[in-house]
Amino acid sequence: MQDTLNALAAKALTELATIESRPDFEAAKARLVGPNGELTAQMKQMGKVPKEERPAMGKLINQTKVRIQELLDAALARIEAAELQAQLGPAIDPTLPSPDIGPGTHHPLTLVREEMCRILHKVGFSVADGPEVETEYYCFDALNTPTDHPARDAQDTFYFPKTTNFKNVAKKNHDERYLLRTHTSSVQIRTMLKGEPPIRIVSPGRVYRRDTSDATHSANFQQLECLYVDKNVTVRDLKALLDYVFEALLGKDTMTRFRPHYFGYTEPSFEVDLSAAHLPKVKKEWIEIGGCGMVDPTVFSDVGYDPEVWSGYAFGMGIERLAMLLYGIDDIRYFYQNDLRFLKQFA
Ligand code: DAH
Repeated sequence: MQDTLNALAAKALTELATIESRPDFEAAKARLVGPNGELTAQMKQMGKVPKEERPAMGKLINQTKVRIQELLDAALARIEAAELQAQLGPAIDPTLPSPDIGPGTHHPLTLVREEMCRILHKVGFSVADGPEVETEYYCFDALNTPTDHPARDAQDTFYFPKTTNFKNVAKKNHDERYLLRTHTSSVQIRTMLKGEPPIRIVSPGRVYRRDTSDATHSANFQQLECLYVDKNVTVRDLKALLDYVFEALLGKDTMTRFRPHYFGYTEPSFEVDLSAAHLPKVKKEWIEIGGCGMVDPTVFSDVGYDPEVWSGYAFGMGIERLAMLLYGIDDIRYFYQNDLRFLKQFA
């Protein structure tokens, strides 16, 4: 029995040294120490060992058991280490420089947004910012847009639940709701409430509408808003500014025209059309590009400006629309897909 036990320990040593996978390990373990294993078989023989040899034999069995367990533990540790290594992959040298992916480029929408701000900055407009989470007051009420106006419908606007509270966006009225702003016109109100005229601001930023995404619609897009408040401002000033802006952005042959329209916050109001036949893919003679008008006296009164003293104009337009015109892009969704093959073309 002694020889058998020694032979068993020697066999465990050689067998376990070469095992590399978990199934092989489990099989060897069962063969050695499992209920039907070889060591267990030896233990069952103890009854046949003469009484005086039993203590020595019991000790030897225990020693063999401990030895085999040590070998099993070592084999398992080796297999686990190999498994971890396989998961981690080849060793890396963190001190090496990262592979050079080349310089980044600006997104086409960023290019157009910054170019528009630069063009407007040249004639005295400075950039104003406003929150994308707005309240009904800034987005609608103060812009003379009554409760039953379609723009305020839950079908068109993303409202937050009544219980939501944004500590960094102050409500004007206690019971008004928060929403994602549907236009950048809300920045007009925030700017006017902050200071006195004259005011000359451009405010680019994201806006949100419950639109189903297609080639010309997206639930999230960017607008650019302008507000000018001073004494004796006329429609002529508005038209001259828009002529200047679009010529500067799209080229000399660009023309603008006004069509009468209705917006609650301007009177008179117009839709602005562009003609830019020299641009790629612009086949139609006139393309609608935004809305504008002379600031409605009600809006001035609401923010505490005397409408008898102050006059002004405002306009708003979609940045995607402009970028699509400028670059000849026919699907708005390209802007949001992060496909470098598309994005790199505008560097
Ligand atoms: N807020 C309008 C829209 O999102 C665009 C607009 C129209 C802005 C007239 C103005 C304006 O400032 O005067 O469709």
